[in-house]
Amino acid sequence: MNNLDLKVDLNGLILDNPVTVASGTFGFGREFEPYLDLNEIGAISVKGLTLEPRQGNEGVRIVETPMGMINSVGLQNPGVHHFIEHEIPYLRQFNTKIIANINGNTTQEYVRMAEILNSEDVDSIELNISCPNVKNGGLAFGTNPKVVEEVVKAVRNATDKHLIVKLTPNVTDIKEIAKIVEANGANCISLINTVTGMAIDIYQRKPILKRKSGGLSGPAVKPIAIKLVHDVYQAVSIPILGMGGIMTGEDAVEFMLAGADAIAIGTGNFVNPTAVIDVKKGIEKYLEYMEIKSVSKLKGYLNTVE
Ligand SMILES: Cc1cc2nc3c(=O)[nH]c(=O)nc-3n(C[C@H](O)[C@H](O)[C@H](O)COP(=O)(O)O)c2cc1C
Repeated sequence: MNNLDLKVDLNGLILDNPVTVASGTFGFGREFEPYLDLNEIGAISVKGLTLEPRQGNEGVRIVETPMGMINSVGLQNPGVHHFIEHEIPYLRQFNTKIIANINGNTTQEYVRMAEILNSEDVDSIELNISCPNVKNGGLAFGTNPKVVEEVVKAVRNATDKHLIVKLTPNVTDIKEIAKIVEANGANCISLINTVTGMAIDIYQRKPILKRKSGGLSGPAVKPIAIKLVHDVYQAVSIPILGMGGIMTGEDAVEFMLAGADAIAIGTGNFVNPTAVIDVKKGIEKYLEYMEIKSVSKLKGYLNTVE
């Protein structure tokens, strides 16, 4: 079947194809340029940005686990101003959408980031609400419905840019959080961020990561992510960018059937630098096999369970 339509519209952010890369797993694209054509990627969500440059956490900060990895990289990044000066011009050489992933210790820091980026050449801002809220004892912003409301509302007021809010899976009721995010003006929801995890070196009798615990990602989290994407799909009508353990085209299709409009590859990029291309080909193969012309038809296209 020819002429597959891979375009997706994430509520104003139009992607040539639904395969994007997840923040923190693709840098600013430079390291991947030798391996794949960056023009093939629907969108690049860049490494999580902060107001000032950050060195990230010390000591061991990544550990491999069965079917995944736990990281406590700690938002190492060159800061938003360096991004604007050096990385936007680099990324603009390619035909891909730029998503600026923003992070803060306080609501004011998120707002400042959004204000700064508002006049810059990025296609979307992705608000990472998995960051610790220093004014709230270090608990992630995204775990408290009141705080979610405050930060999304404040950022929405600070920018006219397309706004994606990225949810943490480490909550009791993700539907409640998703509804708040939608009601406060987000254009799109992305999920999942990493699941809290810990690994121990039994001979040293010490946690392997210097900071004890971190965020689990990779195929180990995929079933959790599929369930949460489906929950969010049932709760809101804004588009969903799904992620969590996607390694193949079949994985990507599973996310879309669960309710995602587009998907992101994270840990998969570390295992297979051409994962984006392989996943895209896998989606095309599935569409051809199922005789479905447009990828946007896959969203929530599940047979009802009796
Ligand atoms: C090493 C590493 C760094 C990450 N850094 C960020 C980040 O800066 N901002 C963010 O929103 N998510 C970050 N994430 C989360 C990923 O974007 C993604 O949501 C998560 O890993 C689940 O997808 P995956 O299983 O395909 O990796 C990071 C993940 C990893 C593994």
